[in-house]
Amino acid sequence: MKDRQNIHGSWASRWVFIMAATGSAVGLGNIWKFPYIAGENGGGAFVLVYLVCILAVGVPIMMAEVLVGRRGRQSPINSMREVAMEADHSPKWALVGWIGALAGFLIFSFYSVVAGWVLAYVAAMANGDFLEIGSEQAGQVFNQLLSDPQTLLIWHSVFVVLVMAVLMGGVNKGLERATKIMMPALFVLLLLLLGYSMSSGSFGEGLDFLFHFDPSELSWNAVLVALGHSFFTLSLGMGSIMAYGSYMPKSASIGSTVLTIAALDTVVALVAGMAIFPIVFANSLDPAAGPGLMFITLPVAFGHMPGGQVFGFLFFVLVGLAAWTSAISLMEPGVAWMVERFGLKRAPVCIMLGIVVWLLGIGALSSFNFGSDIALFGLNIFDFLDFITANIFLPLGGLFVALFAGWILNQRITQNELAIAVPSVYKAWSVMIRYVAPLAVAAIFIFNLIDKLG
Ligand code: PHE
Repeated sequence: MKDRQNIHGSWASRWVFIMAATGSAVGLGNIWKFPYIAGENGGGAFVLVYLVCILAVGVPIMMAEVLVGRRGRQSPINSMREVAMEADHSPKWALVGWIGALAGFLIFSFYSVVAGWVLAYVAAMANGDFLEIGSEQAGQVFNQLLSDPQTLLIWHSVFVVLVMAVLMGGVNKGLERATKIMMPALFVLLLLLLGYSMSSGSFGEGLDFLFHFDPSELSWNAVLVALGHSFFTLSLGMGSIMAYGSYMPKSASIGSTVLTIAALDTVVALVAGMAIFPIVFANSLDPAAGPGLMFITLPVAFGHMPGGQVFGFLFFVLVGLAAWTSAISLMEPGVAWMVERFGLKRAPVCIMLGIVVWLLGIGALSSFNFGSDIALFGLNIFDFLDFITANIFLPLGGLFVALFAGWILNQRITQNELAIAVPSVYKAWSVMIRYVAPLAVAAIFIFNLIDKLG
């Protein structure tokens, strides 16, 4: 088949795709969420399950998403439709793209709030607000920020503008350019912090916490959290990677490219853990502090260490960059679809969608102040959005993509796109995508349900 053309453009090279997709994957999920959920779920046991999920479920599904995106060469909604029709199936498969785009908006609305906290902390660190501070005071600083809707709103707005500005530039002048500057900066900063943690933290204790496997720490809920997180951290199940895949050069091999992205994402999460936990232990703080780990615990640690102000500042800049490149990818499926559907330019689309997510974000940020009484299934708006997206929307989206690639698309299409030279490797992917990934997702859902009901 002749390769379709993408009206939005295409990445200059395979490496640009790797960097862009890694930029999407590496975000708050790696640096904020992974360490705190690992901390809450007992460290090593959780980490092991998470790694298995990445390899057995995440990688095959990421390959499927890239495959569909590159085949369709459009926004996820339209690519799903196009490729389904090519395989003589119902155009209704576009629904998977719709659910994904919706999930992108929902994730963005709380993501942007956390990214706003990060920006506030960049300023606070630069200002030296955490010098010699105790945990109690640090907790107060964080709670004060949360209880102040105006300040939250300002930072949330700044973040929305930053993200939309890049999206407006389009694939090459926006996404690609931003990626090329931000990703190398991110890796340099991460290595600097690791070095800092190795020299001033309790490195051995941190490693032990992350890699010591104790099965008694594991619960079904922890397995669900690990599965959900493997989707979240790889940006799967909602179309980000599918959208980025639609800009991927035809000559690049999907398998090796996806393995590189998944490996980089995993390394960043582990290195973030290795940078954070030693500092936590060196200062006798609690590894299971939850979402506040990065915003209360770490600043206390930085406030007491030599060079802490500089490294604390660099740390939050790093997290901010990571959040930025991820948030861009949350919106790209929606932006690309609007451009295709209504023939609009990117600028008006970005402004419109920017307003929508800005408004949604206000709902999320109100959870900590004027909207704290609102409860959905016993969760505040913020926690509810986090829970339903990571634990329901993304695994379900991933499940449908797996079923689509494994059972709906014929071998001619998948073989042609994946272009795997070794038959047994193709066969292995096919088994993973048809059986292992869907069954794993379904089983974990069911066991959790039983666990919750029982
Ligand atoms: N992968 C990003 C992170 O780990 C979050 C994300 C999820 C981005 C889904 C895009 C799509 O922070």
